[in-house]
Amino acid sequence: MNIETLCLHSIDKRNEYGCLTTPIYQTSTFVHEGVEDTSQYSYSRLANPTRSHLENLVARLENGEKAYAFSSGMAAISTAIKLIKPPAHIIASDDLYGGSIRLFSNDALSYGYEFDFIDTSDLELVKSKIKDNTKAIYIETPSNPLMHVSDIQAISDIAKKNDLLFFVDNTFLTPYYQRPLDLGADIVVHSGTKFLGGHNDALAGFVVVKDKAIDERLAYLYKTVGACLAPFDSFLIERGIKTLPIRMDRISQNAKAVAQWLRNNPNVNKVYYVGFEDNKDYEISKKQSTGFGGMISFEVKKSAYVSQILRNVKVFQYAESLGGVESLITFPKKQTHADVPKEILEAKGINDRFLRISVGIENEQDLIEDLEQAFKDEV
Ligand SMILES: Cc1ncc(COP(=O)(O)O)c(C=O)c1O
Repeated sequence: MNIETLCLHSIDKRNEYGCLTTPIYQTSTFVHEGVEDTSQYSYSRLANPTRSHLENLVARLENGEKAYAFSSGMAAISTAIKLIKPPAHIIASDDLYGGSIRLFSNDALSYGYEFDFIDTSDLELVKSKIKDNTKAIYIETPSNPLMHVSDIQAISDIAKKNDLLFFVDNTFLTPYYQRPLDLGADIVVHSGTKFLGGHNDALAGFVVVKDKAIDERLAYLYKTVGACLAPFDSFLIERGIKTLPIRMDRISQNAKAVAQWLRNNPNVNKVYYVGFEDNKDYEISKKQSTGFGGMISFEVKKSAYVSQILRNVKVFQYAESLGGVESLITFPKKQTHADVPKEILEAKGINDRFLRISVGIENEQDLIEDLEQAFKDEV
C-alpha cells in the first residue's frame, strides 16, 4: 500500500460499531472478566486502544516494528535517550532544536551522559569523535534551524561498525519524504506536534524502532516514565495524518516559491533552504529524501528588519512552532533557541537578523505578498 493510502486506511479499522474513524477510548483503566479472561488493555498509561491505533499507523509509515506515542516531542526524546546506558559519550548534531540542546547539555551530565556537538554532515569528523565510551549518534536532518543535511546511510554504516545506537529526529521531513529506519537508523524520534499532527492544535511525540531488543527496553521505559499521549490527542494526531501527503505536497510547493522570493530579495543576505539546486547538501537530500519540506531560515541585512517583519506580517503568524497548516515565522534567538548560549548562536549565525519560516498551505501568492508588504518601508 502506498503512503497516501496508508495514511487513511491503516490496519485494525474494525471496531464494535463499525465506526469509520477511530473511537476515542476516554478511559484510564479497563475491566477484566477474570484472571485469564482479559483484553490486551489494562491501564491507559501502558496502552490505550485509540493510542495503539495511532502507534500502529506511525510504525507502518516509518517502516518500523513498533511506535510509541508521547505527550510531546520532548517527552519522546527524553525517554528515548534513556535507551543509552550511562555512563556514555554521545555524538550529536551541533544544530538541533533548542529544547534538545537544553536537555543534552544541561541535564544530561547529571545522568551520566557526555555529549559532543559536531557538524554531523562531516563524516570524517563523526568518525574522529568516536571514543571507547561512545554509545550513540543523535542527528536531526535537515537540522533546526540551519537546515544542514546529514547522510543517514553513511552515518548508519559508521554506527554499525562501532556498535553505536543511531537516533534520527525525522520531524522536519516526516515519513512522507524520508524514512530513516530504511536507511539504517535504529531509532526515529518525532515531534508529532509538527507536520504529523499538522494543525497546531495538539502536542505529541513519537519514538519508532525496528529491533526487538530495543523495543523491549523502550516498552519498559514507556510504562515507567508515563509520558503517554492522551486518547483525544491521539485522535487529533491520527486525523492530522490523514492529510499528511497532500499537506506536505502543498507546503513544499509553497516553500520553494517563498525561498526563491527571499533569495531574490535585496534585503536578504542568505537563505537556508535544502531545495536549492546549488545547496551543498542538495545531492544527499535527493538521495535520501523524496521532498524538501516547508522549512526555510533566512538572514536579513539589518536587524531592524526583524521587528518590522514580525510586526507587519498578516498571513504569516509570528509564533513559535512549525509544521502546521498555517505559515509561522519564528525568531530563533529569542524563541526556539533562547536557552542556547549566545556565543554558540552567534558563531553559527543565529543572530539578531536570523528568522525561521514554517510554510503552510495558504495560497502561494498571498504568502509572497504578505512578506513583500512586511519588508516594505520603515527601515
Ligand atoms: C526538530 C524538533 N524536534 C523536537 C521538538 C520538540 O517537540 P515538542 O515541542 O513537541 O516537545 C521540536 C520542537 O520544536 C523540534 O522542532
